[in-house]
Amino acid sequence: MKVLVAYASKYGATEGIARRIGEGLRKRGLEVAVLRCKEAGEASGFDAYVVGSAAYAFNWRKDARKFVERNADELAAKPTWLFSSGPLGTETVDDEGNDVLKGAEPKQFGEYRDLVHPRGTQVFRGAYDHDKIRGPDRIVAWMPAIRDVMPEGDFREWDAIDAWASAIADELGASAARP
Ligand SMILES: Cc1cc2nc3c(=O)[nH]c(=O)nc-3n(C[C@H](O)[C@H](O)[C@H](O)COP(=O)(O)O)c2cc1C
Repeated sequence: MKVLVAYASKYGATEGIARRIGEGLRKRGLEVAVLRCKEAGEASGFDAYVVGSAAYAFNWRKDARKFVERNADELAAKPTWLFSSGPLGTETVDDEGNDVLKGAEPKQFGEYRDLVHPRGTQVFRGAYDHDKIRGPDRIVAWMPAIRDVMPEGDFREWDAIDAWASAIADELGASAARP
């Protein structure tokens, strides 16, 4: 069974998550390609799809949006999962007591529910290095109010990512993990 993991990443955090999901699926005997959405072109010839993007201002990156919208019919016809990388820090609830991961869902999760009928959508914590930020992001990232809510560091939760990949493999009927 062939699975495409397609991702859009600006500074590399989401790429790391996509590669880790790919490794997890491979360990379960699935044939996996991990490609940037930009390079993935027309998505055909796969039996399942995992598509992920970093979230910026509550939206997926354009490459990921274009990939999903261009391939909507194919994704809707095959088992598809979506993930987003974003929230920084380790808090599970915000000051108002709302779930941080739920609050970080990109607008596209709602929009794509009817478009591609994903089997699952998942937000993962991201990573952020202030000195790496380029272009217009830099202006936003240096605003004092924004700096306060964007702690620096790598907050990616590899156990949660591995568990999610494993659940996808289960749903695809993959074999047990190789030792
Ligand atoms: C300017 C800017 C805006 C951001 N906006 C959001 C956001 O709206 N929601 C969110 O969860 N994370 C947001 N983040 C955090 C990033 O999504 C996070 O750092 C992500 O892991 C980066 O992934 P990448 O390295 O693959 O681009 C923002 C980061 C920056 C620099």
